Amino acid sequence: MVHHATKDSHIRKEFLPAFRPFLEAAELREVIDTLESDWITTGPKTHTFEEQFKEYVGSRFAVAVSSCTAALHLSLTASGIGSGDEVITSPLTFAATSNVIIHQGAKPIFADIDRETNNIAPESIEEKLTEQTKAIIPVHYAGHPCEMEEIDRIAKEHDLLIIEDAAHALAASYKNRAIGTLGDATCFSFYATKNITTAEGGMLTTNDEKLAQRARMLSLHGISTDAWQRYADGGSWYYEIIYPGYKYNMTDIQAAIGIHQLKRLPEMQKRREEIAKAYNDAFGNTEGIIIPTSRPYVRHAWHLYAIQVNTNVLKANRDTVIDALKARNIGTSVHFIPLHLHPYYRSQYGYKRGDFPNAEHFFDREISLPLYPRMTDDDVEDVITAVKHVTNEHKL
Ligand SMILES: Cc1ncc(COP(=O)(O)O)c(C=O)c1O
Repeated sequence: MVHHATKDSHIRKEFLPAFRPFLEAAELREVIDTLESDWITTGPKTHTFEEQFKEYVGSRFAVAVSSCTAALHLSLTASGIGSGDEVITSPLTFAATSNVIIHQGAKPIFADIDRETNNIAPESIEEKLTEQTKAIIPVHYAGHPCEMEEIDRIAKEHDLLIIEDAAHALAASYKNRAIGTLGDATCFSFYATKNITTAEGGMLTTNDEKLAQRARMLSLHGISTDAWQRYADGGSWYYEIIYPGYKYNMTDIQAAIGIHQLKRLPEMQKRREEIAKAYNDAFGNTEGIIIPTSRPYVRHAWHLYAIQVNTNVLKANRDTVIDALKARNIGTSVHFIPLHLHPYYRSQYGYKRGDFPNAEHFFDREISLPLYPRMTDDDVEDVITAVKHVTNEHKL
């Protein structure tokens, strides 16, 4: 339970950061154990982390890698997506989702978002289909699953792959099916701010054995056996290069952290849900704030609590509210500047403002409030007080 009261004059003494990781003694002990062992890079702990992760998600395979970006890149490479192909994704995402499409020599095609969930809209996907379309990368924005039933129908009808960007969506589910078991491949992030962290890291889950084998092989230079197998008792020095792969493997130091973060995930998710509920209760009737939607048939991972400033009701915009919250020692962030508005996309593909009106509308109003398990009840109360104060101050 989060208790809060409105103390209008109350201003936090110390700055509350937008994100903080949550590492405990168990993670530290396991890292030290790894450093004191004879195996510090990809080895037994990475293997254990993969086994436990696939059990948690319910997928047949899990491949631990150096980042979600690496998992996305490997999913495309292992699926044979390349030059001349088109991949449809959301403009409301981080650089990584689209960078890897371009790295493969394929073309990113954006489809506008749904105004309620802020996820890629299935009807926009349909408008963007061409003969060259090979895959869809749905991004589960903030941890709210995309409309996977509709996306699956489109993919089946047009013989497309689904590679999910689940950087925000560990612990999320769609119609009682876990994210990580739905698409051809799902990519998770363990970056410092994510629902679990290994500082940097990622995981690719899939039910497709061939894709898993190819991704694993490509994650370590495209060679036939990994170092752990080569150097283990009875291993052989011999290896063969099957394909010019990448250096995307996870280290055992990272996996040591991941094993304990994964164990603590249910407890950390419970806290995220509590805080999201406290915000929903506090801001549901706050004039000037539009709260995020959570459809009844999903489990939201609550990676982000993304509010929108209702500019019809306030004489303030996103930036004024961010500055006013900062002045009250509340850190925030913005997710994301839609990709098509960045200089590369404007110059390379001719995109401009107006091309994806829903993503732009959202971006112009979006603020991510602090939401992480280490927040105390007082921290949550401070955010609520500050947001209410700022909106009151800026009423039209
Ligand atoms: C939506 C989305 N996709 C992909 C990534 C990339 O994750 P990583 O930093 O693990 O490569 C991020 C990271 O912030 C993200 O927010």
